Amino acid sequence: MPATCPVTFDPFDASYLLDPYPTLERLPAAFHSAELDMWVLTRHSDIDAVFRDPATFSAAIAQDPLFPLSDTARAALGPHFPLPKTMSNNDPPDHARIRHFTMRAFSARRTAVLEPRVRAAATELVDALPSGEFDLVSALSHPLPAFMIFALIGFPPEDTEVLTSWCGNRMAFSWGRPALAEQVEIAGNMRRYWEYCTRFVAERVAEPRDDFTSDLVRWHLDDPDRLTQREITSIIYGLSFAGHETTTNLTSNALRRLLEHRDQWTELCADPSLIPSAVEEALRYDTSVIAWRRITTRDVSIADVDIPAGSKLLLLLGGANRDPDRFADPDRFDIHRPDAARHLAFGKGIHFCLGAPLARMELRIVLELLTARTPDLELVPEQTLDFPPNVSFRGPHRLLLRRTTQEAP
Ligand code: HEM
Repeated sequence: MPATCPVTFDPFDASYLLDPYPTLERLPAAFHSAELDMWVLTRHSDIDAVFRDPATFSAAIAQDPLFPLSDTARAALGPHFPLPKTMSNNDPPDHARIRHFTMRAFSARRTAVLEPRVRAAATELVDALPSGEFDLVSALSHPLPAFMIFALIGFPPEDTEVLTSWCGNRMAFSWGRPALAEQVEIAGNMRRYWEYCTRFVAERVAEPRDDFTSDLVRWHLDDPDRLTQREITSIIYGLSFAGHETTTNLTSNALRRLLEHRDQWTELCADPSLIPSAVEEALRYDTSVIAWRRITTRDVSIADVDIPAGSKLLLLLGGANRDPDRFADPDRFDIHRPDAARHLAFGKGIHFCLGAPLARMELRIVLELLTARTPDLELVPEQTLDFPPNVSFRGPHRLLLRRTTQEAP
């Protein structure tokens, strides 16, 4: 049965971008959005079931541009696109093959080696925070995940600036509605980034080192048909994006919410053992990936709404994380919430976010450092936050903070 009343849902509306949660609360469980030509799901149990059934709900469209690209933008991408599907937009059985290798390269050893490096980089950034007013995003939330993911992959630190400049606004390309000129500019940067990754992987093939990319290269050299060089390039191309903006935004969202709830920030400063549960509550309450996509492979019925085969789905993870049937008093931010980790911020099932341990580690380290060194941190009052216009990635462009205690001269 189709939804009887048409539902208006515009994820590009300024008030939704500023605060999507009042809208998410009033949306039905499942409906068709004429604006997006997608079926939208909002409830925890339905989205959880979609994630657990990859045969019915294919991930194939997860990275596709939301709206058709112009011919000029397609030409600007160059001959290498579309890229080989690796994980987030791949389906079984091919998905399992690539994920198997990537998981092995994300070994506990490699993550453990990364932790002291992330801590050292975070300490340097926190120590450099000015005593007056500053923007958390440019001072900490943005540079730290870039450092972390590039260090994991093995990109030389001196290339960070040019690489991050090429990443700028890539999220608008697939999840936004960029104007023609912007499409072309982003496409050119994506092409340059791909060409860089291609050269980088070729260098590691010639001379493997001790990094994530070289692990993949060694397995490729053992059996070139099981993992191709182009697939490795596509993995690191995708990973350097997946591991960056998501974590930047989570860091900013978490700091914003903790400082808005001063009593909980004070509690965290007094008792750092609460940090892991604060990380989960930040992921639940203000996730940095607010929506994800699937496409149906057969006719289905969800929340009494019939959805035909071949329908695109928008899964509103932000709605699932505030679903009153899943979380008691869901609009209350509470670092003591016992079941916060049941959020769907990292997805579920075969595509469950590969970077979840890294993202959690990074925010934990940031909170350990900030609560210990800058307990006097506060939000600059009456600032207007501004969020990128896209359906999935959510975090403020700038977040102004200040310290109330002046350092001794
Ligand atoms: C707060 C930070 C992050 C959030 C909220 C997040 C969220 C997500 C979500 C929602 C998915 C889709 C899950 C699905 O389709 O079922 C995903 C997949 C993925 N994420 Fe993350 N992510 C974050 C950080 C990272 C980091 C740091 C990395 C890499 C270092 C990463 C790598 C990936 C990869 C490779 C996939 C695809 C996995 C697959 O399809 O098998 N993510 N993530």
